[in-house]
Amino acid sequence: MKPDGVERRLIGEIVGRLEAKGLHVVAAEFRTIDAVTAERHYAEHAGQSFYIGLVAFITRGPSFVMVVEGPTETWKVVRGLIGATNPLEAAPGTIRGDLASDLRENLVHGSDSSESAAREIANFFPSLA
Ligand code: RTP
Ligand code: MG
Repeated sequence: MKPDGVERRLIGEIVGRLEAKGLHVVAAEFRTIDAVTAERHYAEHAGQSFYIGLVAFITRGPSFVMVVEGPTETWKVVRGLIGATNPLEAAPGTIRGDLASDLRENLVHGSDSSESAAREIANFFPSLA
């Protein structure tokens, strides 16, 4: 969960949606992400027009960083719950569709493949990798 989710007091709402789907939070930490970790996390976007603003946003205050487990293809299940990147295009019923209205401040990140999930878990929770 990105800093806007924490600032807007949506931790319970968003974790509740993951748990209601049947997923388990197996690691979690309230953490202000440092620039090195943020830049590693979003390296695929380096050089894009929105990159500097994205890193500034993601490091501006505490995030609620989680590892979520489910029976199969959990990254895909989570992406479905999150909805489209742009909240204006995210379907009602999704986290972004119901709760967000800004392209940058879209509340949550979700890994986009099992390989990304493994890389991101190692980046945020090295002791679990
Ligand atoms: P995320 O990685 O955060 O889960 O989001 P995503 O896969 O749905 O979208 P991605 O393309 O990876 O973009 C990463 C985040 O960058 C911000 N963004 N801003 N044009 C813009 O201003 C713009 N485009 C993307 C969003 O916060 C997006 O989630
Ligand atoms: Mg992404």
